[in-house]
Amino acid sequence: MRETSLDLSHFVMPLFACPGEGVVRPLQGLPGIAQRSLDELEREVEQCAALGVSAVLLFGIPEEKDEEGTGAYDDDGIVQRALHSLRARFPELLLLTDVCLCEYTSHGHCGLVRNGEVANDESLELIARTAVSHARAGADAVCPSAMMDGQVGAIREALDDGLESTPVVAYAAKYASAFYGPFREAAGATPAFGDRRGYQMDPANVREALRECELDAAEGADVLMVKPALPYLDVIRAVREHFDLPVAAYNVSGEYAMIKAGAAGGWLDEREAALESLLAIRRAGADIVVSYWTKELAQWL
Ligand code: PBG
Repeated sequence: MRETSLDLSHFVMPLFACPGEGVVRPLQGLPGIAQRSLDELEREVEQCAALGVSAVLLFGIPEEKDEEGTGAYDDDGIVQRALHSLRARFPELLLLTDVCLCEYTSHGHCGLVRNGEVANDESLELIARTAVSHARAGADAVCPSAMMDGQVGAIREALDDGLESTPVVAYAAKYASAFYGPFREAAGATPAFGDRRGYQMDPANVREALRECELDAAEGADVLMVKPALPYLDVIRAVREHFDLPVAAYNVSGEYAMIKAGAAGGWLDEREAALESLLAIRRAGADIVVSYWTKELAQWL
């Protein structure tokens, strides 16, 4: 009678790569998740793969940040190096990458800043360069999350010069959400001034989410992602009903942290609450779920 299932093949595990050797830096707000240097990352991925995890999403913490987010599109950047080492060791594993500038810019915004404003159009070229650099280094799919208008088209066009079979998983409806708090600590990507409401979406809007998805689909997106997941199940459902592209949902850091904290206090059964959350996201219509529980889910299943 069960209509929805939790199968590992639907889940993607986010991982954070950082410089150094032998580094495992646990994250306060994301219990069980850590920043890892490449040697440790390989070990973690090995465990994930052995448990049956089929896909990971890589984020990078660069050695240095600058105004232009150079570390994002450096062919020798942290994510690119992680891709080279993981690609060789895990040929079967799907390697996805987050394509954004915010982890690499000194101001922490997702695009270039000019005169105190995020410069949408000028950022597109750098975002496209980042995606191409990831694909060349071995990424199976690139996931633009900067919410710059036109980013999917810019990436698609850039990839079509020799990397045309690399799909674009578009963070199409990404809201300006309070639920990214723990992630910003994890990625060191809190905006130094202002907020992201100039480019991320207003939590009050669902029709706008469909317009965002329409634009990304027209620009060549292969997957449409909604983010966060739990407070936006209606948006996931709406996207599912309006589009026939695969739909992804990102069960973000704050959603994970809340349940971890509730469980640590003894008020929630973590496993039950996590499984219920993930099931609800799938039931709402997500084909693909990015979740920090993916590795644990593999153990639970
Ligand atoms: C980068 C990015 C963010 C997340 C994924 N990619 C942060 C943000 O937009 O502030 C959030 C992920 C999470 O909270 O788990 N732009």
